[in-house]
Amino acid sequence: MTRTRIAGIGMYVPQNVVSNNDLARVMDTSDEWIQERTGIKERRYATRFEDTTTTMAVEAAKIAMHRSGVTAADIDFIIFATLSPDYYFPGCGVLAQRELGIKEIGALDIRNQCSGFLYALSVADQFIKTGMYRNILLMASETHSYGLDFTTRGRNVSVIFGDGAGAVVLQPTQDDHGILSTHLHSDGSEAETLSMMNPGFHAGKFCPSKRPANPSKPFGGLFITKEMIEQEDIYPYMDGPAVFKKAIVKFPEVIMEALTASGCQPSDINLLIPHQANLRISQMVQQKLKLRDDQVYNNIQKYGNTTAASIPIALCEAWENGKVKNGDLICLAAFGSGFTWGSVLLRW
Ligand code: ACO
Repeated sequence: MTRTRIAGIGMYVPQNVVSNNDLARVMDTSDEWIQERTGIKERRYATRFEDTTTTMAVEAAKIAMHRSGVTAADIDFIIFATLSPDYYFPGCGVLAQRELGIKEIGALDIRNQCSGFLYALSVADQFIKTGMYRNILLMASETHSYGLDFTTRGRNVSVIFGDGAGAVVLQPTQDDHGILSTHLHSDGSEAETLSMMNPGFHAGKFCPSKRPANPSKPFGGLFITKEMIEQEDIYPYMDGPAVFKKAIVKFPEVIMEALTASGCQPSDINLLIPHQANLRISQMVQQKLKLRDDQVYNNIQKYGNTTAASIPIALCEAWENGKVKNGDLICLAAFGSGFTWGSVLLRW
């Protein structure tokens, strides 16, 4: 039976460390508030005019490719997950392809926010299991810091997010290692609860309050308007408590779904790597599943929430620190904007 294994993994975080006190200098917040509510001590911000979502992903990809012993010529499919692409279009997949000098293979962009890496893994898993591709390069990367509201108005969102990238090379294997199952879910009924609607092509259809008051032109004039810019309605929006409540239900649910599908129990997990949304969410998930501290990996304290990149960054760091060993049962789980959520259970 063919399974998909992670043949190599890499991560890249920018040099620039931004502490909670650094943020408190530009908005009304404090180190104490941020640590107490989120667990975050610091995060990394991309170097302006140098790092982008694509360039950081490319750095992570080079490490993953080196560790898996493949070159650009071996890669037969690219998947790129991000909510902060360099361009509105084309997506980062082709930009990374150009930077890495990869030939005319397919490049797929995934827009599933915090669950992006797991959605991407699931897609890659299908292509590998069917024999379609043999070396898929999957990158997940975010540059939040270029697009956040750094005034006090945006503080509930801005203090949470950080920049960084992770990448894996996926290959087929015939042994009992690799991905055991993937489970994906979504519920669009509360899509705007965690969203960045503008600029966008929605024309206020779903939220009449977002409808331009007096469109000045018969055509166009809806995607980005003066009003949006004047009212600074161009930043991510999050109803934090609503996201929190849903996350602490869906995380344990989808982890149990993965375990049940493989006849396993929480005590069988060697390492759970939850999407690094908020340390308090991870701790509540750990409590609900009665997991020991050494069964859960968290690094949000150092990097903040890097959305699609958070799971591959945490997995890479855990592996580099010797916390992921051959034969370990690893559970990856994510919940985020959409809402979308999912889990991947794998044998390392
Ligand atoms: N510094 C100081 N005060 C703040 C800050 C800040 N950075 N942000 C909000 N506050 C204030 C609010 O203005 C509010 O003040 P008020 O009582 O005077 O009105 C007070 O703190 C409480 O605000 P809440 O939003 O209710 O704070 P809460 O305790 O819920 O914490 C948080 C906010 C951390 C966002 C929390 O709701 C949360 O973690 N939600 C989960 C969302 C999450 O993890 N998102 C991650 C991204 S989503 C993802 O990855 C899927």
